[in-house]
Amino acid sequence: MALKILITGGAGFIGSHVVRRFVKNYPDYLIVNLDKLTYAGNLANLIDIENSSNYRFIKGDIVDSSFIDKLFEDERFDAVVHLAAESHVDRSIVSPLDFVMTNVVGTVNLLNAARKYWKSNYENKRFYHVSTDEVYGTLGEDGMFTEDTAYDPHSPYSASKASSDHFVRAYADTYGMNTVISNCSNNYGSFHFPEKLIPLAINNIKNNKPVPVYGKGENIRDWLWVEDHARAIDVIFHNAKSGETYNVGGHNEWKNIDLIRLLCNIMDQKLGREPGSSEKLISFVTDRAGHDLRYAIDSTKLQRELGWTPSLQFEEGLEKTVDWYLANEEWLENVTSGNYQKYYEDQY
Ligand code: NAD
Ligand code: DAU
Repeated sequence: MALKILITGGAGFIGSHVVRRFVKNYPDYLIVNLDKLTYAGNLANLIDIENSSNYRFIKGDIVDSSFIDKLFEDERFDAVVHLAAESHVDRSIVSPLDFVMTNVVGTVNLLNAARKYWKSNYENKRFYHVSTDEVYGTLGEDGMFTEDTAYDPHSPYSASKASSDHFVRAYADTYGMNTVISNCSNNYGSFHFPEKLIPLAINNIKNNKPVPVYGKGENIRDWLWVEDHARAIDVIFHNAKSGETYNVGGHNEWKNIDLIRLLCNIMDQKLGREPGSSEKLISFVTDRAGHDLRYAIDSTKLQRELGWTPSLQFEEGLEKTVDWYLANEEWLENVTSGNYQKYYEDQY
């Protein structure tokens, strides 16, 4: 069946992988990518598919309710896959309100427009909300987050994502909307903005700059290759029952310091440096305020019900990621210098 799908945040890290996957795998669909092109949105992430006949880009802000209402009225979407968000925890500590506006108000604006224009036909119109494992808070040494874990967010980012998840469920319960939510662990891979741990460390090691590790580096994250997340979103979008939630994760927990040491070894090899030389760049710095100790995701439900499993071992994925960053120096240079934003100011 031909579908017209609105993907929000499609110029960002995960969104660009989701857009690419849908454009390539579903030639009958029309994929409309709505993105504000904040500092994190970059159309260079989509250069390989930008001229596809089943793809369109629209620049716009999900916080602007009149714009969103008009967009839904004009475009008559069949479904929404909602990824647009402020996504960086450290920025949320500095500017919480930006996160409330985009992540909470922006999500409610989309829900309101969907509600208004889909009213008589909810069963055939899907609202898929992409969320994070951070809504569950933090774990001690044992245990994993399941879909039944109570929400306990600690950062302004995770509080805003938790709030948006609650609104999505409230619209399903109150108005009968067809909604699905997935909560995923830390992604890594190509087009990851170099403010996040892995691409920041790759960029700094490459340039012989200190690699900041918060606290003692003992916090633990579960890492998933971004293309495996995009595949999970595809599987869930097409197969989940209305009202369902799925956890998505890599079964791949790493202490930050161990991850950074592994990355240093890979970088030494790739850059032809003396073994151990990149590790000398590690610099322990003041910890993040409210830093969650450990995330671990139990994605058994997704595996059991929809047959999804991660495809890539972490060491292999990390090496592929390093190769990508070293082969795409211009992308990295444009992003870190801010040149890509000047380009959009001229274009849009
Ligand atoms: P990102 O920061 O790389 O991309 C976010 C995109 O949203 C950017 O293209 C940005 O321009 C756009 N955007 C921001 N504000 C907007 C607004 N007001 N209107 C329209 N567009 C706007 O983020 P990401 O890491 O790709 O994350 C995408 C989604 O996945 C987010 O909802 C995030 O919470 C969720 N998520 C991320 C991870 C992760 O590890 N990165 C893990 C789980 C869930
Ligand atoms: O768990 C999913 C979440 O993963 C997503 O919802 C977020 O959008 C995404 O940004 C990510 O959040 P984290 O805070 O876990 O990612 P980040 O890359 O910022 O940090 C990963 C870990 O590394 C975390 O424990 C903090 C630490 N860190 C981070 C940076 C940027 C450092 O030690 N040094 C750093 O310079």
